Amino acid sequence: MCGIVGFTGREQAAPILLECLKKLEYRGYDSAGIAVRDSSLPVVIEKTTGKLKALSDRTHGGKALKGMSGIGHTRWATHGAPSVQNAHPHVSGGVRSTVTGVHNGIIENYAELKQKLTDNGYEFYSETDTEVLIKLVDYYYRKYRIGPIDAINRTMVRVKGSYAVALMFDDYPEEIYAARNDSPLVIGTTQDSSFLASDVSAILSRTRSFYYLGNLQAARLKKGKVEFFNLNGDRISIRKKTVDWETDSAEKHGYEHFMLKEIHEQPDVIRRMLDRYIEDEGICICDDQLDESFFQDLKQIIIVACGSAWHAGVAAQYMTEAVTDVPVRVELASEFRYRSMYACKECLFIVISQSGETADSLAALRKAKSLGIRTLAIVNVNGSSIANEADHVILTLAGPEISVATTKAYSAQLIALYLLVIQMAFIRGNLDAVMYSQMIGELKELPDKISSILSDKEKYQRLATVFSSRQDMFFIGRNMDYAICLEGSLKMKEISYIHSEAYAAGELKHGTISLIEDGTVVVGVITCPHIADKTLSNMIECKSRGARLITVTDLEDKGIESVCDYMIKIPSVNGLFMASLAVVPLQLLSYYTSLSRGLDVDKPRNLAKSVTVE
Ligand code: G6P
Repeated sequence: MCGIVGFTGREQAAPILLECLKKLEYRGYDSAGIAVRDSSLPVVIEKTTGKLKALSDRTHGGKALKGMSGIGHTRWATHGAPSVQNAHPHVSGGVRSTVTGVHNGIIENYAELKQKLTDNGYEFYSETDTEVLIKLVDYYYRKYRIGPIDAINRTMVRVKGSYAVALMFDDYPEEIYAARNDSPLVIGTTQDSSFLASDVSAILSRTRSFYYLGNLQAARLKKGKVEFFNLNGDRISIRKKTVDWETDSAEKHGYEHFMLKEIHEQPDVIRRMLDRYIEDEGICICDDQLDESFFQDLKQIIIVACGSAWHAGVAAQYMTEAVTDVPVRVELASEFRYRSMYACKECLFIVISQSGETADSLAALRKAKSLGIRTLAIVNVNGSSIANEADHVILTLAGPEISVATTKAYSAQLIALYLLVIQMAFIRGNLDAVMYSQMIGELKELPDKISSILSDKEKYQRLATVFSSRQDMFFIGRNMDYAICLEGSLKMKEISYIHSEAYAAGELKHGTISLIEDGTVVVGVITCPHIADKTLSNMIECKSRGARLITVTDLEDKGIESVCDYMIKIPSVNGLFMASLAVVPLQLLSYYTSLSRGLDVDKPRNLAKSVTVE
């Protein structure tokens, strides 16, 4: 999704803006641009399509542009094709261009506003909703002869949709203005500089002190100073937050790609989670309000998320139903937000999100709150919209995740869910003290077991070379193995562009098996002993139709080896936690397949790390 940055301070802005935009590259983009301003001179704008490098080359790393304040943007096209014309920054134009801006989000009523502005003499040069937004600010600014904050506020009242916007007004050199509704925006300061960005990682190397602008709030950034305003134009205060992520955790550290680095970070992330949330051999994951009596009375859980976070939710559903008597529904956030469903009062709504900014997940959370359901967010980014709005929060402590394809954040989500479910089962009497301690002990073994899988990466490199030319892949499994397949298949398709589907193995015969032909790759995940034979016989059915079989298993003596072309053996663990182990070979397989196909592993085409629009 689009990324925005802004800077005002005592250094040249353009190189800083390019540096910050580089850190937002992972969000996905197809064009980029910056605008800088030297106090006495007009704004200078440079835009290019394609990679940031083109923008950097064109401006000699930004050195060709003079000015100590500026804004920048990476654009992921929504309204209008990727082109220089549509790239941001956009300007109000006209006789005297007063406003220059960048925007992340979608203005839903842009067509109606464009008409209004056209009727008032404005002309448009791009197909973007952003140009409409900028011109609307300009319209109010000129018409009422008001200050930037009042013009922004009038605009916010008028537009519908989501936006994080950074603006420069010609009449206010050295100042940057910002406003937001539902799209992420963070503001950071140092003694003599102020920054803004779509997320913390973009400016983490510059400051650790951040302000999270709330919805329908605006900010004025001066050098080292920032003021906040509500929709009435009144000054408000926002609490400063300090982020404890390592500055260099958003660097590659010798790994060829962020994805590989993040895969290798998984043991440490899990250790960090267990250290934080297990005290004196007991799980401390709940707060004062999410207490024993709440869990005792709980009648239903609804888990809502998107993408891999939804897959973590599916794993949690199998687990919860295996160890507790609480029914669980898992819904895609994009579906949940528009469907009617009954939820009882003693229900817990769990939203899972790495970024904490996914538009559908945020909307689903708000819907649950409006229904009066207690909400819990399992989220990686502290201070994000979802973390701020949920009643309760469990932070996943994965640190910044840069690769678009999630790995360590998914693993951390699983751990948060295991801890929650174990604690709930214990409180409800579904687990006795011995089983409780045993499970905690088994969780603590996960990091070393994952490390042992990671140490055998040559195997995945070889396998990837064999299969990277294939067109289709199917991932099949039952029960928890099916939840694992969902994630394995998504990893494969999103970064290798090989068509891939996950199927509950028992469903194959209801259609999918007709797609199996000579050479089709079928990956079977077989770790649930009680149904291993069934999945295996589904794999044999595929083999008889020409499929090449890869199996991920921890089981011995099931006759798997003699059936499969390639077997990936993983360590055993309590089956409830198997997703944490079995997903790792699938992550590596996807990574090396993408690599051997020569693709951009960390930034797959058309995808965005953080999907902040609907
Ligand atoms: C995007 C990412 C996925 C992620 C999903 C949900 O599609 O590429 O990796 O699982 O969004 O994101 P969230 O930040 O809510 O976990």
